[in-house]
Order: sequence, then C-alpha cells, then structure tokens
Amino acid sequence: MEIFDEYESEVRGYIRSFPTVFDKAVGSELFDEDGKRYIDFFAGAGTLNYGHNPERAVEAQIQYLKDRRIAHGLDKATVAKKEFLETFIEKILEPRKMEYKLQFTGPTGTNCTEAAMKLARQATGRNNIIAFTNAYHGHTMGALAATGNEAYRDESYGARGAVNFMPFDGFLGDIDTLYVFERYLEDKGSGLEKPAAVILETVQGEGGINVASSEWLQGLEKLCRKHEILLIVDDIQSGNGRTGKFFSFEESGIKPDLICLSKSIGGGNPMALLLINPEVDVWSPGEHTGTFRGNSLAFVAAKVLIDQYWSDDKLSSEVSRKAAIIMDTLKGLRDEFPSLNCRVKGRGLMVGIETPLDGFADEVSAAAFERMLVSETCGAEGHVNKLFVALTIEDDILKEGLDIFSEAFREVARKHV
Ligand SMILES: Cc1ncc(COP(=O)(O)O)c(C=O)c1O
Repeated sequence: MEIFDEYESEVRGYIRSFPTVFDKAVGSELFDEDGKRYIDFFAGAGTLNYGHNPERAVEAQIQYLKDRRIAHGLDKATVAKKEFLETFIEKILEPRKMEYKLQFTGPTGTNCTEAAMKLARQATGRNNIIAFTNAYHGHTMGALAATGNEAYRDESYGARGAVNFMPFDGFLGDIDTLYVFERYLEDKGSGLEKPAAVILETVQGEGGINVASSEWLQGLEKLCRKHEILLIVDDIQSGNGRTGKFFSFEESGIKPDLICLSKSIGGGNPMALLLINPEVDVWSPGEHTGTFRGNSLAFVAAKVLIDQYWSDDKLSSEVSRKAAIIMDTLKGLRDEFPSLNCRVKGRGLMVGIETPLDGFADEVSAAAFERMLVSETCGAEGHVNKLFVALTIEDDILKEGLDIFSEAFREVARKHV
C-alpha cells in the first residue's frame, strides 16, 4: 500500500476502509494482488448491479476494440450509440409507455444531476430547487448544493447554488412532510422562493437507505403539478433494477419530468443519461457539453446488458427473492440484539441495518472486511450498514456473505450489549 499512502492525495476514501490492492474481479468476487478472495457486498456503490465484468458485456467490448471501432465519439452519431438508443427505447421506454428525449451528459452521476437542475432552471425561468433532507446528488457545486450531509458542506468550499431543503418522507416521524412542504409553498410569508424543480431519490442511498412510500411520491407529484414545479428523480443509485423494477418509481406510477441515470447503466463503465420530458427539452444546440459524453464502450456494454436482463421479468423476480433472504437475515440480527434498537431498512436489493450507536456500523464493516467481505456504511451519522449485492449474485455466495456479515455483526454487538 506504500505507493498509495505516499503519493495519493489525502482525499482517498474507500482505500482506507478496504486496505488491500485489488486486482481481479468477476461477478460478486474480488481478488487482491496476492490472490486472496473477497466477497463483494458493495457493488461499486450501486454501479455493479450486474456484477464485475459481466461476461457478455466484456466479450462485446473486447470485440468492439479488436475491430478498432470508434471509442471516443463526443456527441457525434456512432453505431454504438445508435444501437444503445434502439435497445433502450425498445426494451426500457416503450414497454413502460415512457416518452423521453435522451441526453448523454458527462459520464458521472453528478454530471447528470447538474444538467437536470440547470435544465429545470432554464425551462421554468426560476432559480430555486427543492432537495430533501439526507439527499445525495453528487459533489460538483450545483449537485453539492442539493446534498444534505453536513460532512460534505463545508463553508470554505464556496457558494452553493439556490437550493432549499424540505423534510423527506419519514424525516419528521409521523408528521406529514408533504403538508409541511405545501405550507411553505402556499404561505406567502414562508420565505420560500417558488422552485423550478424538486429533486429526490425515491430510496436515499448515501443518506441512510430511507424509503419514500408510493403514496408520498404520488402526493409529491400532485403538489408539483399543482404548483407547476418540475419533478426530477435521481435514479442514479436506486435505478437499473436495484429496487426490483428498472426504475425505482415504477410502482408508484409517477411520471417525472427529468430522470437521472448513471452507475449501473454502463455495466461498470462510466456513463450517465438524463431522460427529459420533451416539453422541457429547451436546450439550444451545444449549450451543455462535455468531452466524455459518448463513451462507446459503455454504450456497447449497456446495450448487451439491457438485452440480457431486461427482455423479460426474470431479474426483477430474482431481486425480490434475494431481497427476502437478506431481509430475513437482517431482521434476525435485529431481533437477536433488541437493546441495540436496530432498524432494518430498504426496498428490493437496496437494504441496510441501522444501529443508533456512533462507530458501530463502521466497526461491523471493518470486522466483515477482516473476514473478506467488502461492505460499506451510509447515513449522515454513518449508522447504517449497507448491504449492496449484485442483482446477479449467486445464491451460495450470497449465503456465504450473509454468514460473514452476521458473524461480524454479532462480534461487534456482543461488545455493546
Ligand atoms: C443518488 C446519487 N446521485 C448522484 C450521485 C453522484 O454520482 P457520481 O459519484 O458518479 O458523481 C450518487 C453517487 O453515489 C448517487 O448515489
């Protein structure tokens, strides 16, 4: 690890939680440079829904490169992009009767949320955006303004754009948080500038695995329509099948004006995509650009993976089946240690266990890593152990990983009860 310690910036993060030099990775297994095997319950923070190096995508990408087809395309027309578009429209949009234009932004999630907020401001001529408590939308300045966690919001970073926060579903216990939002919108004395848009995750990932109910989402949509506020769903972490359906909001039936996708869409390759209600697509040509918008290898992988996993409902059923197994394990741990007041949280394969004790979740994650399981924590206080498996994880590896996690959890729990 010396070269990293000596030469890589102090900013490095995950390398500190998982201090080994990773080399190979296949499916839900990682191998370090000494060939030691780790089970992956982290999934690249939601980037590896189809596992590491999914076979068909890898083969297609190798062939694409071998044939010397265009790798860097900016936003030029390419065969790779055309084939991705055809597949995405046929397999994802049309079956859901969704009509959207597609914008390929720079390839990270934060590029996409920035573009969404900028476009919403432009389309409405308003400046203010509503984000929700515990939201996470990325680290560029516009997106950071909409990210709640105090740890990322130091004053010295410079001025953040016009964003106000409203309470997410459940943030105020039993109080109806939409009522609060509505009061702020409707009372002329509230001091709230009428927003261009609201931006939200339907299940907050980094913010602690907080799930918005379908009713809440429907109520929010209604409120947005009533006040002519655009609705942006950031499905960067919760999309691509993570909660079961391709989009996290499908069950609720809401129709966002803008949808942000990134992470798993490219099967591990950098790629981001903004879906735009055509009425809101007020960009002028070249107005929002970026050098790495057309990552051909990501298009190739994305096309293959959509064909493979979204031509039928099998993956969605697998998510429900595996989610039940994980939930059972976590609920078992919660019930084993009632005095810890744990809460099991999540939807689909976006799950976690919250233990309201400072440092506890980090200790569990470290104890799991000692046993060769990679898993992270989340939440503003770092209280949640987040179990993010690939949607394609094999049953035996899932079981092995859950056994390791349970052992680590029990070891730490016994010190605290
Ligand atoms: C919901 C959500 N939005 C935006 C982002 C930012 O994506 P990126 O880290 O690729 O910029 C993330 C990253 O974790 C995320 O979870």
